[in-house]
Amino acid sequence: MRAAIAPDPGGPDALVVADLPDPTPGPGEVVVDVVASAINRADTLQRMGFYPPPPGASDVLGLECSGRVAAIGEGVAGHAIGDEVCALLAGGGYAEKVAVPAGQLMPVPDGVDLVTAAALPEVACTVWSNVFMVAHLQPGERFLVHGGAGGIGTFAIQLASARGAEVYATAGSPEKLELCRSLGATRAISYRDEDFVEILKGVGGADVILDNMGAKYLDRNVSALATQGRLVIIGMQGGAKGELDIGALLAKRGAVIATSLRARPSEEKAAICASVAENVWPLVASGRVRPMVNQEFALDDVASAHQLMDEGGHSGKILLRVG
Ligand SMILES: NC(=O)c1ccc[n+]([C@@H]2O[C@H](COP(=O)([O-])OP(=O)(O)OC[C@H]3O[C@@H](n4cnc5c(N)ncnc54)[C@H](OP(=O)(O)O)[C@@H]3O)[C@@H](O)[C@H]2O)c1
Repeated sequence: MRAAIAPDPGGPDALVVADLPDPTPGPGEVVVDVVASAINRADTLQRMGFYPPPPGASDVLGLECSGRVAAIGEGVAGHAIGDEVCALLAGGGYAEKVAVPAGQLMPVPDGVDLVTAAALPEVACTVWSNVFMVAHLQPGERFLVHGGAGGIGTFAIQLASARGAEVYATAGSPEKLELCRSLGATRAISYRDEDFVEILKGVGGADVILDNMGAKYLDRNVSALATQGRLVIIGMQGGAKGELDIGALLAKRGAVIATSLRARPSEEKAAICASVAENVWPLVASGRVRPMVNQEFALDDVASAHQLMDEGGHSGKILLRVG
């Protein structure tokens, strides 16, 4: 099979499309003929040598895919050859075939074509697991998402607003602020020209914050929290080591949580995928939450796809067309 790997760390040109042996399904696994994958920020970190795959995961990049079931391993029930699926992966999505634990497969939501479905697993599982399963965002609560025009952000705005939250989102350009509003943000905040802390304080604070910046925003995020607010950190785009004012957090009876989806055991990922299929897919099928695709690249053009992600001018997801 053809697959994209990064044998030596570097820029987008470090990516190589190579011929690798086809995977075979182990017990409890399914092999998927991949139709499309999508680019995640973690893939660019892996390419640069900063984010090695978890033990046992493929060296091939790619944390999600869509495609058709091609082979079924021992002990797998409920799947048939040819089934159209999308999947959350620990790696291996930038390839013509990938082996995946059966619990990490999800059906393609009604109304979504198979290629576009590759834009969904990572954002849906990340946003659902963090904002709803961990931080328990409730209808009527105020929700702040940083990077509202990104892959995670565009999904988070839509899902939180569909579930009745009041959504605030930060973004870096007038076009991206407009996109956040069009997706359901009550207030889009320019992280270049405005102070999100003042804006959130002015309305009583954020009950839940989904943060991609890490250290750079730690102090300001705690200041922007409401009493009993929950800050969930999923990215370190602004660094990994910050200083936490425990007094400020304590006074608010607040919580700071940090999570990573990729390194979780397969059983936990399976539970998240099942919960996403049950709770999120109906909103996608109804059109209330839409996959946001910025651009599609062929597997041979994977370097250009990474270049676009590195430059950061995109909004929504960047797709990689494989099959
Ligand atoms: N922990 C996990 O399990 C997990 C899973 C998936 C993703 N993530 C992380 O989630 C983050 C978003 O992922 P993604 O796929 O959505 O990437 P993406 O599409 O590249 O989005 C990155 C976002 O960062 C925003 N940004 C840059 N500087 C900012 C600043 N100073 N303040 C606020 N926002 C800023 C960008 O906003 P503009 O474009 O408007 O400038 C953009 O929306 C990444 O850090 C990724 O590693 C974590």
